[in-house]
Amino acid sequence: MRAAEISDQLTTVLVTEEQIHAKLDELAREVERDYAGKDLLLVGVLKGAVMVMADFARRLARDVTMDWMAVSSYGAGTKSSGVVQIRKDLDTDLTGRHVLIVEDIIDSGLTLSWLLENFAARGAASIEILALLRKPEAAKVEIDSRYVGFDIPTEFVVGYGLDYDERYRNLRDVAVLAPHVYA
Ligand code: PRP
Repeated sequence: MRAAEISDQLTTVLVTEEQIHAKLDELAREVERDYAGKDLLLVGVLKGAVMVMADFARRLARDVTMDWMAVSSYGAGTKSSGVVQIRKDLDTDLTGRHVLIVEDIIDSGLTLSWLLENFAARGAASIEILALLRKPEAAKVEIDSRYVGFDIPTEFVVGYGLDYDERYRNLRDVAVLAPHVYA
């Protein structure tokens, strides 16, 4: 669905599907250049990264391998602790691999900070991050993300993989959720 079709549930459209696709084209060209001659493993972080992974990976004019990880913080309200639990681990041995983590959003940065450390301990040859969205004002830890699509304000955003209570992931655009939906 497009934002216009549920405009009563949204306040502002921050990034349209067209803008997302144009940005993913740019990022795909950069990644092709940067990893020329190297094997590349894309790691998607479930569930939010499903859309960006699907659209980004198919734009690459080269072969890659893909794997998935599902993580979550321990219990509600403890996300700020930065403690992450692995719900589904990778099937791939990272030893000597060039890894590009694909994420929908960097919010506090805690998830990626933990993942970077975890992947480094598994002996990856290189680890970089591609994040479609980043909330710079919400950062609790600085994450060095090589590929970033859009910096957005610290608002409750949904769409393109991002959910509110598992809803709105299938919205094609990224938009601010209207307060009456979650109040
Ligand atoms: C979201 C998003 C990132 C993480 C970013 O996932 O997909 O993985 O939060 O937040 P952080 O920078 O503050 O750590 P979420 O835990 O909501 O799970 P989901 O992808 O299944 O929606």
